[in-house]
Amino acid sequence: MKHLITVPLFTALIYLIIGMAAQTVNAGSKNLMPVNVPLIYKQECASCHMSYAPALLPKESWTEIMNGLQKHYGTDASISQQEMMQIASWLNSNAGTYKRVKEAPPDNRITKSGWFEKKHRKISSREFLSPAIKSPSNCNACHKNAEQGNFDDDEVRIPK
Ligand code: HEC
Ligand code: HEC
Repeated sequence: MKHLITVPLFTALIYLIIGMAAQTVNAGSKNLMPVNVPLIYKQECASCHMSYAPALLPKESWTEIMNGLQKHYGTDASISQQEMMQIASWLNSNAGTYKRVKEAPPDNRITKSGWFEKKHRKISSREFLSPAIKSPSNCNACHKNAEQGNFDDDEVRIPK
């Protein structure tokens, strides 16, 4: 009787561990962008740069970004209070929760996250600033499906 209970429990535990491990390493092979992106996010947050998937930063970072739009990385990106609340709520409910995104990176930059630096350590800063790329923040210069939040390494091409 005892045996009959422990086996399924053990199996469930194994599945849980595999599932958690897959979540932390597989961010590159699935679409991080939710399917229904609010139009307002595309309008207000994808005019100066591509639209970043909320899962690329923790809630804490999105909150700080949304509270400081008038001083946004050297520019003014402020919007109405109502739009701000609407976007912030969507970002927060879709923010990254998996292991590598759990801590807010310096300046709330995706590009200053530990995982980002590790995954891109072979790319020099000169390469990142080349005319075809301009900034590491331009994910879509190299990841053609970056707007869908797809960073699969089969779809990467560094423009020369
Ligand atoms: C007026 C132009 C403008 C608008 C509008 C704008 N941004 Fe930005 N954003 C910038 C600039 C400039 C940077 C810095 C890019 C760089 O360093 O190459 C930036 C950087 C970022 C970064 C950090 C990227 C990195 O390097 O990791 C995030 C996240 C971000 N913006 C989110 C948002 C969100 C959310 C909104 C909408 C509320 C928004 N932005 C609207 C201009 C804008
Ligand atoms: C200069 C080109 C370039 C830019 C810009 C760039 N990447 Fe990458 N990225 C790469 C390359 C090359 C790899 C490594 C692929 C490999 O492992 O062989 C990579 C790997 C990754 C991976 C890991 C994929 C995996 O399967 O392990 C993620 C996630 C990622 N990038 C996200 C981003 C995000 C988010 C941005 C923008 C904030 C960005 N990248 C900007 C070139 C770039």
